[in-house]
Amino acid sequence: MLCEVARAAGHELLTPTHAECDLEHPAAVGDLVLRGGAELVVNCAAISRVEECEHDALRAHLVNAMSPAAMALACRHTGARFIHLSTDYVLDGRRPGLKPADARCRPVNTYGSSKAEAEFQVRESNSEALILRVSWVCGNPSKPSFVENAVAQALRGEKIIAAEDQDSMPTHVRDIVRVILSPQLVDASGVLQVTSSGEPMSRYDGVRIALERAHAMGALPQLPSVEARKVCNMSRFCAPRPAHTAMDNCRLLALGISMPSAHESVCHAADDYLRYVSA
Ligand SMILES: NC(=O)c1ccc[n+]([C@@H]2O[C@H](COP(=O)([O-])OP(=O)(O)OC[C@H]3O[C@@H](n4cnc5c(N)ncnc54)[C@H](OP(=O)(O)O)[C@@H]3O)[C@@H](O)[C@H]2O)c1
Repeated sequence: MLCEVARAAGHELLTPTHAECDLEHPAAVGDLVLRGGAELVVNCAAISRVEECEHDALRAHLVNAMSPAAMALACRHTGARFIHLSTDYVLDGRRPGLKPADARCRPVNTYGSSKAEAEFQVRESNSEALILRVSWVCGNPSKPSFVENAVAQALRGEKIIAAEDQDSMPTHVRDIVRVILSPQLVDASGVLQVTSSGEPMSRYDGVRIALERAHAMGALPQLPSVEARKVCNMSRFCAPRPAHTAMDNCRLLALGISMPSAHESVCHAADDYLRYVSA
């Protein structure tokens, strides 16, 4: 979505594929940035599947931490701006409530550790780099999140289970893209938390909101029931999940960038998914 919106806004883009820019090889990635001639480098690539990181910590370290560090260093040499995407999973999530950007990073799994290492390395390599921490990204129907998955399951009449003891801020990808391309970020560096506004939401509540929206839009004749479950009873998870990782977006608001509520973000994602499946 970032590429589509940036192109439509008139930016010239270089979009190397996974094969052309393999983040398992940080030195080659750094060379590519040095030779690329870009004015802005945005790193959205990562191994973001938690279980995959747990099974291959070395690859997670190379892709999620060392290559972003190489990109940040190369950008320092070329003078390009560097924007790196990070995650709420850098937090331990022990306490409920909205976390400030300077909250201590104590990740509970390998994915979070690799992303926290990236934040550290990127800042060390390039003090002007901007790290955008995002959470529970929804709204891309071709890359379904828990929101789209729940609507899809409901449309198929399947049983729906959602975690009741994990909360964060569902954030629509369109709003993240809007922030990345926003002129207000031009002088920003350090950590910027790019999340919806409002109060933290559990996965269970997010799923309920999405299904209520789909029901209200006429896509579901009846409102399906949702089974609330504890994360520790989710059999497909082998790695621990942080429980309460909602982040505040105070700095974003101070930069003059407003964000919709988490409730609105989930509803918009459900709408987008329904449009996508009915097209
Ligand atoms: N999705 C979320 O809810 C969420 C939440 C918080 C933070 N984030 C962060 O947001 C960013 C984007 O996440 P996402 O969910 O869009 O991730 P994603 O769907 O898993 O996409 C990651 C991309 O990285 C590429 N990639 C993986 N390994 C690579 C390698 N060795 N070399 C080059 N490219 C590689 C993948 O290419 P292939 O498909 O070819 O492998 C894919 O295009 C990540 O930094 C993630 O940590 C996401």
